[in-house]
Amino acid sequence: MTRNRYLLGNFAPVTEEVTAYDLPVTGRIPAHLDGRYLRNGPNPIGIEDPTAHIWTLGAGMVHGVRIRDGRAEWYRNRWVRSGMVADRLDEPRRGTPIDERMDISPNVQIAGIDGRTYALIEGGIRPYELTYELDTVGPCALGATSEGYSANAHSLFDPHAGELHSLAFLYGSEYVQHIVMDAAGTVRRTTTVHVPGNPYMHDFALTERFVLLYDSPVVFSPAHLATGVPYTWDERRAARVGVMPREGGAVRWFELEPHLVGHTLNAHERRENELVIDVVRHPPGISLRDIGASRPTLDRWTIDLAAETVKEERLDDRIQEFPRLNPLYSGRPYRYGYTAAVELYAPPAGPDDDRPDEGFSNALLKHDLRRGAVEAHEFGRDAAVSEGVFVTAESPKAEDDGYVMAYVFNPSRGATDLVILAAQDFGGEPIARIHLPVRVPLGLHGNWVSGAP
Ligand SMILES: [Fe+2]
Repeated sequence: MTRNRYLLGNFAPVTEEVTAYDLPVTGRIPAHLDGRYLRNGPNPIGIEDPTAHIWTLGAGMVHGVRIRDGRAEWYRNRWVRSGMVADRLDEPRRGTPIDERMDISPNVQIAGIDGRTYALIEGGIRPYELTYELDTVGPCALGATSEGYSANAHSLFDPHAGELHSLAFLYGSEYVQHIVMDAAGTVRRTTTVHVPGNPYMHDFALTERFVLLYDSPVVFSPAHLATGVPYTWDERRAARVGVMPREGGAVRWFELEPHLVGHTLNAHERRENELVIDVVRHPPGISLRDIGASRPTLDRWTIDLAAETVKEERLDDRIQEFPRLNPLYSGRPYRYGYTAAVELYAPPAGPDDDRPDEGFSNALLKHDLRRGAVEAHEFGRDAAVSEGVFVTAESPKAEDDGYVMAYVFNPSRGATDLVILAAQDFGGEPIARIHLPVRVPLGLHGNWVSGAP
């Protein structure tokens, strides 16, 4: 039988839902933190053909830790109950899927919006609402528009305008929609944009005045529908970044070297006619069916709107993904970004060794974009790290005055820790390690969601 890397080692799905209280802590959890650290990711249930399994198609499982008064009150992991997941758990279905053909458990993102908790995906698949304790309420209409779009995994909150933005695509449609919601997720306005070829648009960016769209050679392919990931790399097609006014209007497109944007770190307007866009860039030929074979890097594009030129630079060629920043600086000039050198993208050691190549170390990275410096907190070859989420200090005095929180596998315990780094002492000892009773598999995105039930 062919080995499937995405079912082994730190990828291996867990089979139980666990609830644990009063977790042991090494170090000190900042006393002002009151909320939940949440992360979503694929965790297949009832795999029919392990050789054909594609990592990104597993049912969503959310892992959460409740923190209050310096204590880790609970850990919970819960599948997001689509109809299929409920059936396999032998439970009644919760809520009605909007479209039975889209009975998919959102596995990409988990976010808190206006006191509610949402598991999110993309492609017109509806978000699911969860309770504070991560039980599934059901599919919901967050960001839903009459054309069939809804809030996607990389919905972006603009703290300056108090708006939530999504750039949503639909499988098989050449139109994408920029959806602007209020802070509670109610749709306020939409702009529909024609993007021929139906490219895969996982993320986007915002500045004070513009929405930035990523067109790429990764396009919808009906021939691949049966695989569950109907996208392919089209060599004849260019990669472009589109600049559209936030209120809608004509899109100005700028051609770039072939690539696929994984995620935006941030974008901002440096001068009247100059845009700076920092992204994780995947090299040409990327396959969404084998995402771990990609080798993403951190890149910067500088667009001169007057001269109609774009400059492409590599900021850091270490393999990294999952860029985050202090969210108060989203869309504005900023200095610090945080990424993860994550095992998902590590070359495997060999055909019979699913561990990462000897030269790979899981790490969280802090980029000082003003100085062009990178600081790494290395966790090592076997300590699978997740996206690092920046959380501001109680009374922040600087952009990097806060914490970076991430799930990190602890090989000596055979279980995962929720690690809290002080962002201003990034390479130093974590200020806290919260010891979970179980392993959290490699996953996708998450957030710190402040607030009590
Ligand atoms: Fe993503």
